[in-house]
Amino acid sequence: MQIFGLQIVIMEPIQFSLPVSAALYTIIAIALKPIFGIFFMKTHATATSSNPSMMGSGGTSIQNSVHLEGMRTAGRLGASVLEMIGPYVIPGVTTEKLNQLCHEFIVHDLGCIPAPLNYGGGGGQLPFPKSICTSVNHVICHGIPTDKKVLKAGDILNIDVTVIKDGFFGDTSKMFFVGKPSVIARRLTQITQECLYMGIERVKPGVRLGEIGYAIQTHAEKNRFSVVRDFCGHGIGTIFHGDPQVLHYGRPGTGEILQPGMCFTIEPMINAGTHHTRILPDLWTAVTKDHKLSAQWEHTMMVTETGVEVFTLRDEENPTWITTSS
Ligand code: MF3
Ligand code: CO
Ligand code: CO
Repeated sequence: MQIFGLQIVIMEPIQFSLPVSAALYTIIAIALKPIFGIFFMKTHATATSSNPSMMGSGGTSIQNSVHLEGMRTAGRLGASVLEMIGPYVIPGVTTEKLNQLCHEFIVHDLGCIPAPLNYGGGGGQLPFPKSICTSVNHVICHGIPTDKKVLKAGDILNIDVTVIKDGFFGDTSKMFFVGKPSVIARRLTQITQECLYMGIERVKPGVRLGEIGYAIQTHAEKNRFSVVRDFCGHGIGTIFHGDPQVLHYGRPGTGEILQPGMCFTIEPMINAGTHHTRILPDLWTAVTKDHKLSAQWEHTMMVTETGVEVFTLRDEENPTWITTSS
């Protein structure tokens, strides 16, 4: 069974207004899976083929250091795709052209597999048909590159790249401005990146996931933006999407306790309007219900003994915002 991308935590159409509990959603997911198929599988993913906690930097076993080096390499290569594509994001380019450039670079220059290509599918949904996700303006995530989508000045674009190198996944995304952005687009984009950084800054052993969500939600809402609830970050390693679910909202004192070696993504999706989402008939593209702008930034990281190691940092990023690093 394929495990879906960013996991949907709450399914709108069935209108459960129950308290959020991972265990509860797991039970509901299993009960309703025959009805909702792949769609409902988004609520739960299990890291069966790899235990992310095996990837510790704390342990001294060769196995662990191989895993750590594998994640470092995959992360660095994923980041390099975002660095490569920047100059091509200009008015007049199609999202399909960006997909082609990334695909060629990932396969031929990096010797990697683009994880999104042919990912998912089932339950009426076709596998993802392209090598990257391109999410423009009011598209929240999982936008499908197409030669019909010509970028124009003022657009904002998220490119989400996941590469597989020697079985390890590096998952990362960033926002691009096409020409000069509006004031609101620039502000949303910047606040969303700050949300990612504030989440990452909380990561260290003993901290609970709810604190990360709380930091992100507080910063977004202080700026009168909203946090998308229906998609979240995820455990990652030798599988694309595993436990834990990393919610981008929450309360201190809740959620799983972080331990050295855990690998996951933080990938806040922040909306200019309400947090509500809609899935287009292609069963992939998630858009804002109110058609207002949405932004997203993503990194893959690991909990170290003292803090966090971000695997997908780009050269343009100044890592002074990481308080403790291995
Ligand atoms: N890269 C996305 C994530 O952050 C998942 C994309 S899956 C795809 O988890 F099939 F939509 F490409
Ligand atoms: Co991800
Ligand atoms: Co991603």
